[in-house]
Amino acid sequence: MNDDWNDYADGWDGNSDVRRYANCAFASLDEYAGISGGGWQARRVLDFGCGTGLLSEKLAPHVKEVVAVDTSERMIAVLQDKALPNVRALHADILGGSAGGAGNGLSGFDLICASSVCSFLPDYHGAVAVLAGLLNRGGTFVQWDWLASDEGGSGLTLRHVREALRDAGLGSIRAEQAFAMDAGGPAMPVLMGAGIRAAG
Ligand SMILES: C[S@@+](CC[C@H](N)C(=O)[O-])C[C@H]1O[C@@H](n2cnc3c(N)ncnc32)[C@H](O)[C@@H]1O
Repeated sequence: MNDDWNDYADGWDGNSDVRRYANCAFASLDEYAGISGGGWQARRVLDFGCGTGLLSEKLAPHVKEVVAVDTSERMIAVLQDKALPNVRALHADILGGSAGGAGNGLSGFDLICASSVCSFLPDYHGAVAVLAGLLNRGGTFVQWDWLASDEGGSGLTLRHVREALRDAGLGSIRAEQAFAMDAGGPAMPVLMGAGIRAAG
């Protein structure tokens, strides 16, 4: 896999493994936060590293607004073509500050999701701290990534996730295997990490 996500944009939604990952991520989120239960209709969500919006599509019917942000112009173009009514798709680097200043709607989130993004970031620890600062008090950060069994492997360890969420000031931290992907080879475990910004 090369590191230019633009190259994957056109074929992304046609990849059954990618769609299955998004389905499993949403199912685990729904079980954790009760998204489809009806209590989220007034809430705002950030889908960080949204790609073509496979997770945004699932979240959007249950919430007020999904702001879907990605640094890949092509991924965002695919999502914009879907014209989802309450999904605002933005090509921006919110970690690098290219998204502008206050009043742009890029803060005050009740939920921030990062599905298969964090382990690709050069500074995962710093990224979680920035994202946690975009949450409303009581808001929730949730991530899914390949689960690494040791520090040298690809993906993230549960220990690394717990530390990053704790250092970002989040509480009620959970880090556990959420599901596994089986693409013909050995099953690859996927972790879900979650934490909540203190209410006051
Ligand atoms: C494996 S893809 C996952 C896409 C989508 N979340 C999904 O599950 O289908 C990783 C995505 O993270 C995006 N990404 C990488 N670094 C990013 C950053 N600093 N800010 C926002 N998005 C980023 C990439 O452009 C790519 O679309």
